Amino acid sequence: MEKEVSEVKAAFKEELSTVKNSKDVERLKVLYLGKRGPVQALIPRLGKAPVSERPHLGKLINDLKEEIASLCDAALSGYEEAELSKRLNSEAIDITLPGRRRYEGRKHPLTQILDECISILGSMGFSVQYAPDIDTDYYNYEALNFPANHPARDMQDTFYLTDSLLLRSHTSNTQIHVMENHSPPIRIIAPGSSFRNENISARSHVFFHQIEALHIDQGVSFADLLSTLNEFLSRLFKKEMETRFRPSYFPFVEPGVEPDIRCTVCEGAGCPLCKQTGWLEIGGAGMVHPNVLEKGGIDPERYSGYAWGLGIERLAMLRWNIRDIRLFFENDMRFLAQF
Ligand code: FA5
Repeated sequence: MEKEVSEVKAAFKEELSTVKNSKDVERLKVLYLGKRGPVQALIPRLGKAPVSERPHLGKLINDLKEEIASLCDAALSGYEEAELSKRLNSEAIDITLPGRRRYEGRKHPLTQILDECISILGSMGFSVQYAPDIDTDYYNYEALNFPANHPARDMQDTFYLTDSLLLRSHTSNTQIHVMENHSPPIRIIAPGSSFRNENISARSHVFFHQIEALHIDQGVSFADLLSTLNEFLSRLFKKEMETRFRPSYFPFVEPGVEPDIRCTVCEGAGCPLCKQTGWLEIGGAGMVHPNVLEKGGIDPERYSGYAWGLGIERLAMLRWNIRDIRLFFENDMRFLAQF
Protein backbone atom coordinates (compact mmCIF):
# COMPACT_ATOMS: atom_id res chain seq x y z
CA MET A 1 0.00 0.00 0.00
CA GLU A 2 2.97 2.29 0.61
CA LYS A 3 3.73 1.87 -3.04
CA GLU A 4 0.27 2.99 -4.05
CA VAL A 5 0.50 6.09 -1.86
CA SER A 6 3.78 7.03 -3.59
CA GLU A 7 2.23 6.36 -6.99
CA VAL A 8 -0.72 8.68 -6.26
CA LYS A 9 1.71 11.33 -5.01
CA ALA A 10 3.88 10.99 -8.10
CA ALA A 11 0.89 11.11 -10.44
CA PHE A 12 -0.41 14.23 -8.66
CA LYS A 13 2.95 15.99 -8.91
CA GLU A 14 3.21 15.10 -12.55
CA GLU A 15 -0.19 16.62 -13.25
CA LEU A 16 0.51 19.65 -11.09
CA SER A 17 3.56 20.41 -13.21
CA THR A 18 1.30 20.80 -16.26
CA VAL A 19 -1.33 23.22 -14.84
CA LYS A 20 -1.55 26.67 -16.39
CA ASN A 21 -3.89 28.70 -14.22
CA SER A 22 -5.85 28.77 -10.96
CA LYS A 23 -8.83 27.02 -12.53
CA ASP A 24 -6.64 24.04 -13.47
CA VAL A 25 -5.36 23.86 -9.87
CA GLU A 26 -8.89 23.92 -8.45
CA ARG A 27 -9.92 21.16 -10.83
CA LEU A 28 -6.88 19.06 -9.86
CA LYS A 29 -7.56 19.53 -6.16
CA VAL A 30 -11.12 18.29 -6.55
CA LEU A 31 -9.93 15.43 -8.75
CA TYR A 32 -7.46 14.13 -6.14
CA LEU A 33 -9.12 15.03 -2.85
CA GLY A 34 -12.76 14.64 -3.86
CA LYS A 35 -14.97 11.77 -2.71
CA ARG A 36 -14.23 9.73 -5.80
CA GLY A 37 -10.55 10.63 -5.98
CA PRO A 38 -7.57 8.28 -5.60
CA VAL A 39 -6.77 9.41 -2.05
CA GLN A 40 -10.25 8.59 -0.82
CA ALA A 41 -10.03 5.24 -2.63
CA LEU A 42 -7.09 4.24 -0.41
CA ILE A 43 -9.07 4.50 2.81
CA PRO A 44 -11.22 1.31 2.52
CA ARG A 45 -8.01 -0.54 1.81
CA LEU A 46 -6.76 0.29 5.32
CA GLY A 47 -9.25 -2.21 6.74
CA LYS A 48 -7.59 -4.99 4.87
CA ALA A 49 -4.05 -4.19 6.08
CA PRO A 50 -2.65 -6.00 9.17
CA VAL A 51 -3.75 -4.26 12.37
CA SER A 52 -0.18 -3.42 13.39
CA GLU A 53 0.44 -1.51 10.13
CA ARG A 54 -2.79 0.45 10.13
CA PRO A 55 -1.58 3.46 12.19
CA HIS A 56 1.45 3.86 10.00
CA LEU A 57 -0.54 3.53 6.75
CA GLY A 58 -3.26 5.81 8.06
CA LYS A 59 -0.65 8.47 8.72
CA LEU A 60 0.77 8.03 5.24
CA ILE A 61 -2.64 8.66 3.70
CA ASN A 62 -3.24 11.70 5.90
CA ASP A 63 0.17 13.11 5.04
CA LEU A 64 -0.56 12.56 1.37
CA LYS A 65 -3.87 14.40 1.73
CA GLU A 66 -2.21 17.32 3.49
CA GLU A 67 0.64 17.50 1.03
CA ILE A 68 -1.72 17.57 -1.96
CA ALA A 69 -3.83 20.25 -0.26
CA SER A 70 -0.88 22.44 0.62
CA LEU A 71 0.74 22.07 -2.81
CA CYS A 72 -2.57 23.05 -4.41
CA ASP A 73 -2.96 26.05 -2.08
CA ALA A 74 0.57 27.24 -2.78
CA ALA A 75 0.05 26.92 -6.54
CA LEU A 76 -3.32 28.61 -6.24
CA SER A 77 -2.03 31.65 -4.40
CA GLY A 78 0.76 32.05 -6.95
CA TYR A 79 -1.66 31.96 -9.85
CA GLU A 80 -4.26 34.15 -8.15
CA GLU A 81 -1.72 36.84 -7.47
CA ALA A 82 -0.45 36.75 -11.04
CA GLU A 83 -3.98 36.73 -12.43
CA LEU A 84 -5.05 39.63 -10.23
CA SER A 85 -2.11 41.79 -11.20
CA LYS A 86 -2.69 40.93 -14.87
CA ARG A 87 -6.34 41.94 -14.53
CA LEU A 88 -5.50 45.14 -12.67
CA ASN A 89 -3.00 46.10 -15.36
CA SER A 90 -5.45 45.45 -18.16
CA GLU A 91 -8.21 47.34 -16.33
CA ALA A 92 -6.11 50.40 -15.54
CA ILE A 93 -8.25 53.49 -15.12
CA ASP A 94 -7.51 56.34 -17.47
CA ILE A 95 -7.82 59.28 -15.14
CA THR A 96 -7.55 61.72 -18.03
CA LEU A 97 -10.98 60.66 -19.36
CA PRO A 98 -13.76 63.19 -18.67
CA GLY A 99 -15.99 62.09 -15.79
CA ARG A 100 -19.62 61.10 -16.11
CA ARG A 101 -21.80 64.03 -15.12
CA ARG A 102 -24.06 63.54 -12.16
CA TYR A 103 -27.24 65.59 -12.17
CA GLU A 104 -28.13 67.36 -8.99
CA GLY A 105 -31.52 66.11 -7.76
CA ARG A 106 -34.30 68.65 -7.54
CA LYS A 107 -38.05 68.87 -7.44
CA HIS A 108 -40.09 68.66 -10.63
CA PRO A 109 -41.25 72.15 -11.70
CA LEU A 110 -44.89 71.18 -11.09
CA THR A 111 -44.03 70.10 -7.55
CA GLN A 112 -42.09 73.33 -7.05
CA ILE A 113 -45.00 75.55 -8.07
CA LEU A 114 -47.49 73.40 -6.17
CA ASP A 115 -45.37 73.72 -3.03
CA GLU A 116 -45.28 77.47 -3.54
CA CYS A 117 -49.07 77.67 -4.00
CA ILE A 118 -49.56 75.66 -0.80
CA SER A 119 -47.13 77.83 1.12
CA ILE A 120 -48.73 81.12 -0.04
CA LEU A 121 -52.31 79.96 0.52
CA GLY A 122 -51.28 78.38 3.82
CA SER A 123 -50.03 81.77 4.98
CA MET A 124 -53.41 83.21 3.92
CA GLY A 125 -55.28 80.86 6.26
CA PHE A 126 -56.07 77.87 4.01
CA SER A 127 -55.35 74.31 5.15
CA VAL A 128 -54.70 71.42 2.77
CA GLN A 129 -57.25 68.66 2.13
CA TYR A 130 -57.17 65.73 -0.28
CA ALA A 131 -59.88 63.69 -1.98
CA PRO A 132 -59.53 60.49 -4.03
CA ASP A 133 -58.34 60.51 -7.66
CA ILE A 134 -60.73 57.61 -8.26
CA ASP A 135 -64.12 58.75 -7.09
CA THR A 136 -67.79 58.15 -7.68
CA ASP A 137 -69.95 59.98 -10.17
CA TYR A 138 -71.76 61.40 -7.15
CA TYR A 139 -68.78 63.43 -5.84
CA ASN A 140 -67.39 64.43 -9.23
CA TYR A 141 -70.74 65.38 -10.77
CA GLU A 142 -74.04 64.72 -9.12
CA ALA A 143 -73.46 66.44 -5.79
CA LEU A 144 -71.89 69.31 -7.71
CA ASN A 145 -75.24 70.02 -9.32
CA PHE A 146 -74.60 68.10 -12.55
CA PRO A 147 -77.75 65.92 -12.70
CA ALA A 148 -77.57 62.69 -14.74
CA ASN A 149 -77.69 63.38 -18.50
CA HIS A 150 -77.08 67.09 -17.91
CA PRO A 151 -75.36 68.54 -21.00
CA ALA A 152 -72.78 70.30 -18.78
CA ARG A 153 -71.18 66.89 -18.20
CA ASP A 154 -69.91 67.10 -21.78
CA MET A 155 -67.73 70.08 -20.75
CA GLN A 156 -65.33 67.51 -19.27
CA ASP A 157 -64.64 64.28 -21.17
CA THR A 158 -64.53 61.77 -18.40
CA PHE A 159 -62.68 58.47 -18.02
CA TYR A 160 -65.28 56.13 -16.50
CA LEU A 161 -63.98 52.98 -14.79
CA THR A 162 -67.47 51.52 -14.16
CA ASP A 163 -70.94 53.05 -14.46
CA SER A 164 -70.45 54.95 -11.24
CA LEU A 165 -66.65 55.04 -10.70
CA LEU A 166 -64.45 57.47 -12.60
CA LEU A 167 -61.07 59.21 -12.66
CA ARG A 168 -61.94 62.61 -11.29
CA SER A 169 -62.09 65.24 -14.01
CA HIS A 170 -61.36 68.10 -11.60
CA THR A 171 -60.34 68.67 -7.99
CA SER A 172 -63.85 70.03 -7.25
CA ASN A 173 -64.84 66.56 -5.95
CA THR A 174 -62.96 67.62 -2.80
CA GLN A 175 -65.64 70.25 -2.07
CA ILE A 176 -68.32 67.72 -1.17
CA HIS A 177 -65.98 65.41 0.77
CA VAL A 178 -64.84 68.37 2.87
CA MET A 179 -68.34 69.75 3.47
CA GLU A 180 -69.54 66.31 4.57
CA ASN A 181 -66.75 66.06 7.14
CA HIS A 182 -66.36 69.63 8.38
CA SER A 183 -68.67 72.40 9.50
CA PRO A 184 -68.12 76.03 8.56
CA PRO A 185 -65.94 77.99 8.80
CA ILE A 186 -64.20 76.01 6.05
CA ARG A 187 -61.13 77.44 4.36
CA ILE A 188 -59.26 74.77 2.46
CA ILE A 189 -57.20 74.15 -0.64
CA ALA A 190 -57.00 70.83 -2.47
CA PRO A 191 -54.06 70.30 -4.81
CA GLY A 192 -54.07 67.18 -6.96
CA SER A 193 -54.32 65.30 -10.24
CA SER A 194 -57.19 65.50 -12.71
CA PHE A 195 -57.91 63.36 -15.76
CA ARG A 196 -59.80 64.08 -18.95
CA ASN A 197 -60.23 62.09 -22.12
CA GLU A 198 -59.04 64.95 -24.33
CA ASN A 199 -56.74 65.27 -27.30
CA ILE A 200 -53.20 65.97 -26.13
CA SER A 201 -51.92 69.27 -27.46
CA ALA A 202 -49.51 72.04 -26.46
CA ARG A 203 -52.11 73.40 -24.02
CA SER A 204 -54.08 70.36 -22.82
CA HIS A 205 -53.25 66.92 -21.56
CA VAL A 206 -55.21 63.89 -20.39
CA PHE A 207 -53.38 64.12 -17.06
CA PHE A 208 -52.92 67.46 -15.36
CA HIS A 209 -53.13 69.13 -11.96
CA GLN A 210 -55.39 71.65 -10.35
CA ILE A 211 -55.50 73.50 -7.08
CA GLU A 212 -58.98 73.90 -5.66
CA ALA A 213 -59.88 76.47 -3.02
CA LEU A 214 -63.04 76.52 -0.92
CA HIS A 215 -64.02 79.14 1.63
CA ILE A 216 -67.38 78.86 3.40
CA ASP A 217 -68.50 80.98 6.31
CA GLN A 218 -71.15 83.49 7.25
CA GLY A 219 -70.99 86.55 5.01
CA VAL A 220 -68.39 85.32 2.51
CA SER A 221 -68.89 87.45 -0.60
CA PHE A 222 -67.88 87.66 -4.22
CA ALA A 223 -65.54 90.51 -3.22
CA ASP A 224 -63.69 88.03 -0.96
CA LEU A 225 -63.23 85.70 -3.93
CA LEU A 226 -61.81 88.45 -6.13
CA SER A 227 -59.49 89.93 -3.53
CA THR A 228 -58.17 86.56 -2.30
CA LEU A 229 -57.47 85.32 -5.80
CA ASN A 230 -55.79 88.62 -6.76
CA GLU A 231 -53.61 88.55 -3.67
CA PHE A 232 -52.63 84.91 -4.27
CA LEU A 233 -51.72 85.51 -7.93
CA SER A 234 -49.66 88.60 -7.13
CA ARG A 235 -47.71 86.68 -4.51
CA LEU A 236 -47.20 83.71 -6.84
CA PHE A 237 -45.96 85.82 -9.76
CA LYS A 238 -44.08 88.16 -7.41
CA LYS A 239 -45.60 91.30 -8.90
CA GLU A 240 -48.97 93.07 -8.94
CA MET A 241 -51.00 90.93 -11.34
CA GLU A 242 -53.67 92.49 -13.48
CA THR A 243 -56.71 90.18 -13.58
CA ARG A 244 -60.13 90.17 -15.13
CA PHE A 245 -63.10 87.93 -14.42
CA ARG A 246 -65.27 86.85 -17.33
CA PRO A 247 -68.77 85.55 -16.59
CA SER A 248 -68.84 81.80 -17.14
CA TYR A 249 -70.95 78.76 -16.37
CA PHE A 250 -70.15 75.91 -13.97
CA PRO A 251 -73.20 74.10 -12.52
CA PHE A 252 -71.72 74.15 -9.00
CA VAL A 253 -71.30 77.93 -8.68
CA GLU A 254 -73.57 80.90 -9.13
CA PRO A 255 -72.39 83.33 -10.36
CA GLY A 256 -69.47 81.65 -12.12
CA VAL A 257 -66.43 83.35 -13.60
CA GLU A 258 -63.24 82.53 -15.44
CA PRO A 259 -60.28 84.46 -14.07
CA ASP A 260 -57.78 85.72 -16.65
CA ILE A 261 -54.41 87.29 -16.01
CA ARG A 262 -52.56 89.77 -18.20
CA CYS A 263 -50.42 87.79 -20.62
CA THR A 264 -47.07 87.21 -18.93
CA VAL A 265 -45.23 87.18 -22.27
CA CYS A 266 -46.52 90.25 -24.12
CA GLU A 267 -47.93 92.08 -21.07
CA GLY A 268 -51.14 92.72 -22.99
CA ALA A 269 -49.78 93.82 -26.36
CA GLY A 270 -50.93 90.58 -28.02
CA CYS A 271 -48.85 87.51 -28.90
CA PRO A 272 -49.33 83.91 -30.05
CA LEU A 273 -49.51 82.61 -26.45
CA CYS A 274 -52.55 84.74 -25.61
CA LYS A 275 -53.88 84.43 -29.15
CA GLN A 276 -53.51 88.20 -29.54
CA THR A 277 -56.04 88.89 -26.75
CA GLY A 278 -53.55 90.07 -24.13
CA TRP A 279 -55.22 87.80 -21.53
CA LEU A 280 -54.71 84.22 -20.35
CA GLU A 281 -57.33 82.01 -18.72
CA ILE A 282 -56.09 80.24 -15.60
CA GLY A 283 -59.14 78.43 -14.20
CA GLY A 284 -62.72 78.64 -13.03
CA ALA A 285 -64.29 80.22 -9.96
CA GLY A 286 -67.54 81.38 -8.41
CA MET A 287 -69.85 81.47 -5.44
CA VAL A 288 -70.76 77.98 -4.22
CA HIS A 289 -74.24 77.11 -5.51
CA PRO A 290 -76.89 76.74 -2.74
CA ASN A 291 -77.74 73.24 -4.05
CA VAL A 292 -74.10 72.21 -3.51
CA LEU A 293 -74.04 73.61 0.03
CA GLU A 294 -77.21 71.62 0.73
CA LYS A 295 -75.69 68.41 -0.67
CA GLY A 296 -72.72 68.99 1.64
CA GLY A 297 -75.09 69.35 4.62
CA ILE A 298 -74.56 73.12 5.00
CA ASP A 299 -77.46 75.56 5.38
CA PRO A 300 -77.35 77.96 2.39
CA GLU A 301 -79.56 80.44 4.27
CA ARG A 302 -76.88 80.82 6.92
CA TYR A 303 -73.65 80.30 5.04
CA SER A 304 -72.13 81.34 1.74
CA GLY A 305 -68.85 80.53 0.12
CA TYR A 306 -66.63 80.80 -2.90
CA ALA A 307 -64.55 78.21 -4.74
CA TRP A 308 -61.97 78.21 -7.46
CA GLY A 309 -59.97 75.65 -9.40
CA LEU A 310 -56.77 76.69 -11.18
CA GLY A 311 -54.66 74.67 -13.61
CA ILE A 312 -51.21 74.06 -12.11
CA GLU A 313 -49.58 73.35 -15.49
CA ARG A 314 -51.09 76.58 -16.79
CA LEU A 315 -49.62 78.56 -13.88
CA ALA A 316 -46.21 76.90 -14.35
CA MET A 317 -46.26 77.59 -18.09
CA LEU A 318 -46.95 81.27 -17.47
CA ARG A 319 -44.43 81.52 -14.66
CA TRP A 320 -41.54 80.07 -16.70
CA ASN A 321 -42.75 80.86 -20.21
CA ILE A 322 -43.09 77.19 -21.21
CA ARG A 323 -44.79 76.76 -24.56
CA ASP A 324 -45.85 73.09 -24.44
CA ILE A 325 -47.55 71.23 -21.57
CA ARG A 326 -46.14 67.89 -22.81
CA LEU A 327 -42.66 68.92 -21.65
CA PHE A 328 -43.75 68.37 -18.03
CA PHE A 329 -44.32 64.67 -18.61
CA GLU A 330 -41.48 63.67 -20.92
CA ASN A 331 -38.75 63.40 -18.26
CA ASP A 332 -36.22 65.07 -20.53
CA MET A 333 -33.28 66.03 -18.31
CA ARG A 334 -32.42 68.98 -20.58
CA PHE A 335 -35.80 70.46 -19.69
CA LEU A 336 -35.98 69.44 -16.02
CA ALA A 337 -32.43 70.56 -15.20
CA GLN A 338 -33.45 74.16 -15.88
CA PHE A 339 -35.60 74.44 -12.76
C1 FA5 B 1 -62.90 73.23 -13.71
O1 FA5 B 1 -62.25 72.19 -13.74
C2 FA5 B 1 -63.68 73.64 -12.48
N1 FA5 B 1 -63.70 72.55 -11.56
C3 FA5 B 1 -63.03 74.87 -11.86
C4 FA5 B 1 -63.88 75.50 -10.80
C5 FA5 B 1 -63.63 75.20 -9.48
C6 FA5 B 1 -64.92 76.39 -11.15
C7 FA5 B 1 -64.41 75.79 -8.47
C8 FA5 B 1 -65.68 76.97 -10.17
C9 FA5 B 1 -65.42 76.69 -8.83
P1 FA5 B 1 -62.13 74.00 -16.07
O2 FA5 B 1 -62.59 72.82 -16.79
O3 FA5 B 1 -62.23 75.31 -16.75
O4 FA5 B 1 -62.85 74.13 -14.66
O5 FA5 B 1 -60.60 73.76 -15.64
C10 FA5 B 1 -59.92 74.68 -14.83
C11 FA5 B 1 -58.49 74.83 -15.29
O6 FA5 B 1 -57.86 73.54 -15.31
C12 FA5 B 1 -58.35 75.32 -16.74
O7 FA5 B 1 -58.40 76.73 -16.79
C13 FA5 B 1 -56.97 74.82 -17.10
O8 FA5 B 1 -55.99 75.67 -16.56
C14 FA5 B 1 -56.92 73.49 -16.36
N2 FA5 B 1 -57.28 72.42 -17.29
C15 FA5 B 1 -58.50 71.97 -17.64
N3 FA5 B 1 -58.42 70.98 -18.54
C16 FA5 B 1 -57.10 70.79 -18.78
C17 FA5 B 1 -56.34 69.89 -19.61
N4 FA5 B 1 -56.94 68.98 -20.36
N5 FA5 B 1 -55.00 69.98 -19.59
C18 FA5 B 1 -54.40 70.89 -18.81
N6 FA5 B 1 -55.03 71.76 -18.00
C19 FA5 B 1 -56.37 71.70 -17.99
